[in-house]
Amino acid sequence: MNLTAEDTYYVGVNDHDIDLFEGIYKVPNGVAYNSYVIVDDKIAVMDAVDEHFGDAWIANIKSVLGGRKPDYIIIQHMEPDHSANALRFAEDYPEVKLVGNAKTFVMLSEYFGTDFADRRVVVGDGDVLSLGRHDLHFVFAPMVHWPEVMVTYDAYTKTVFSADGFGKFGALDKDEPWDDEARRYYVGIVGKYGKQVDAALKKLATLYIARICPLHGPVLEGDLSHYMGLYSMWANYEPEINGVMIAYASVYGHTKKAAELLAEELEKAGCSNVILHDLARDDRSVCVADAFRYSKLVIAGITYNANLFPSVREFIENLTERNYQKRTVAFIENGSWAPVAAKLMQDRFAKSNLTAAQTVVKVRAALNDESRAQIRALSEELAK
Ligand code: FEO
Repeated sequence: MNLTAEDTYYVGVNDHDIDLFEGIYKVPNGVAYNSYVIVDDKIAVMDAVDEHFGDAWIANIKSVLGGRKPDYIIIQHMEPDHSANALRFAEDYPEVKLVGNAKTFVMLSEYFGTDFADRRVVVGDGDVLSLGRHDLHFVFAPMVHWPEVMVTYDAYTKTVFSADGFGKFGALDKDEPWDDEARRYYVGIVGKYGKQVDAALKKLATLYIARICPLHGPVLEGDLSHYMGLYSMWANYEPEINGVMIAYASVYGHTKKAAELLAEELEKAGCSNVILHDLARDDRSVCVADAFRYSKLVIAGITYNANLFPSVREFIENLTERNYQKRTVAFIENGSWAPVAAKLMQDRFAKSNLTAAQTVVKVRAALNDESRAQIRALSEELAK
């Protein structure tokens, strides 16, 4: 990848072998571990890469540097998808200084068994490291996505090296739209930490930014307002779409029919933005990201072992642990004897800042006139 930022080079790698990112997330188009080199009087390497790509990464660095030797490796984030090769790099280049903050070096010691006491440069929030023309300003961004995270602003090229922020799933040799995979990445990885993301955005808002170089996904340049706007919405838990997501789990198809009937009734009531997700079959992280995308959520769940059906239970847990809020939620329950799904779903959202729909649909085994009327009433309430 060619960067338009002067003296700045891409030395990252694409991973198409990965099965699950962070052991959880499916990444059908792989993922990129980005790393950059700034060549000035002094040379800085921005972050390392995942443990499986050390050879390719070092080769990329050597091809940029020719015979020159790097002076610094800046460690913005210690999660191993970025830091795993920092140890090898430090061993290959014994003159290199490691730049991080106090928390970085605690983690580095935990991972590598050494904190490089004689080779470390410990920086504070707002500190500046000059490479010559390029002054690197360190801006702490705790919990975006770990406590040690910092981002770096190169005042010469007006570039923000944004760590995990503004990243997305998908290797760089796969051409795909940014929003969906960036949203799925954001909601999954840092969705819980909206407050901290908002604080970091406020710090960045004071800077003129020409481009963003994240640790995953493409470099963003030009008009950045689209990306900044989405990040601001995500950080503040604002929905992107005024519409309804219907999430259901169905064993014999009756709950699915209730969900589909609601979708039809919503369309009849004039609500054009409606999507359905089967919680047992659709990718969990897509379901969770879409729940954050839409302004209203209906969950159709069944009673199972006097509890919620597992995929419904896990879905709700995924939402509440990410501080899901500022939306309307509604419930459809299906049960034949001792149904408790609606109450259990309500209980699980009890501490969330949500508006509950008045209508609760109660299906007894299969749809009948009464439950159809409740679905119609719910559609009218949600379409308002
Ligand atoms: Fe891409 Fe939080 O590491």
